[in-house]
Amino acid sequence: MAGQDSDHALVVENLSVAYPLKGRDRAGARRRLLAVDDVSFAIPRGTTLGIVGESGSGKTTAAMAAARLVPHSGGTIHLDGEDFGALDAAALRRARQRVQIIFQDPYSSLNPRLRAAEIVREPMLYAGRTDRAEQERIIDELFEAVGLRPEQKSLFPHQFSGGQRQRIGIARALSTRPSLIICDEPVSALDVAVQAQILNLLKSLQRQFDLTYLFISHDLGVVQHMCDEIAVMYMGKFMEQASRDSFFAAPGHPYSRALLDAVPSIEAVDRPRPPLLDGAVPDLSEPQTGCRFASRCPHALPRCENEVPVLADATGAEGHHRLACHRADDIGPAASG
Ligand SMILES: Nc1ncnc2c1ncn2[C@@H]1O[C@H](COP(=O)(O)OP(=O)(O)OP(=O)(O)O)[C@@H](O)[C@H]1O
Ligand code: SF4
Ligand SMILES: [Mg+2]
Repeated sequence: MAGQDSDHALVVENLSVAYPLKGRDRAGARRRLLAVDDVSFAIPRGTTLGIVGESGSGKTTAAMAAARLVPHSGGTIHLDGEDFGALDAAALRRARQRVQIIFQDPYSSLNPRLRAAEIVREPMLYAGRTDRAEQERIIDELFEAVGLRPEQKSLFPHQFSGGQRQRIGIARALSTRPSLIICDEPVSALDVAVQAQILNLLKSLQRQFDLTYLFISHDLGVVQHMCDEIAVMYMGKFMEQASRDSFFAAPGHPYSRALLDAVPSIEAVDRPRPPLLDGAVPDLSEPQTGCRFASRCPHALPRCENEVPVLADATGAEGHHRLACHRADDIGPAASG
């Protein structure tokens, strides 16, 4: 079974997350918002999976549920082959430090009252690593690895620039040598000039420490630079899942193509950018009957309104490539390639 495969840092199968809402539906049941619906992915150790999609598509919720920071309503989560999704509260407290998060906003995610070294030390204390000399050794090693100077250990967050704060956040995330690091839009709050430095740092740290990343972004350019595999998420579902090369060679899903069309390219700077597709976005508190993209899809057929497409291997694709579209055969990678 994939979940017990220890070549993978993380294996998530059929994950669903429903947020409780106020009120009841017509049948009298509590209303819920299905933010993640039956999503599966596996991340081989030392690699990066990117989840890309518009705001509200469920990227953060899927990652937080995999880290057990948001309760999942269905599915399984295996971390290093262990059934992480089934751990009880006490076991989870001990295991929590095995997943760390690098947040979007380095201004609000660091405790302003702690010095930089203490910010990096904190996860080790939570993990019960109390050997002070060992903590100091790790802090020194990580300050160097993320490009901070030893004398900066005693400074407070407000004494650093945005990029330097994100370096502290990265050192903190690495301090427990986690099995998985979730990077949730880690550069979107930073100046453009600093973004590339931080992305390159994340890549070099991955090589140095054999890190596994779940990388969330709405920016396909960033995802192309960072990720080995890509999952395109829309309204709680994966629409397309493929290796980076197969995805960018022949993106098959109409939603993926709309996202790619919205990316400005160097040749297109003078031309007006096409807007992302019009059309109503489904209400996730209502049961979904068909393809969630049907209301915006230029290729929709009548069956798209009432049959949910399942992710299936795309014909004609090179390597691993899956699509959830009823028209995958006539508009997918085979047709475009
Ligand atoms: N605590 C919550 N209670 C109810 N609904 C929530 C909660 N958190 C998120 N949602 C809803 O769940 C859906 C997915 O949200 P999520 O934050 O996971 O999306 P996202 O893809 O990370 O978006 P963004 O790019 O804006 O960060 C959205 O419809 C959102 O409004
Ligand atoms: S299933 Fe239908 S509506 Fe959905 S993306 Fe494919 S063609 Fe468009
Ligand atoms: Mg988010």
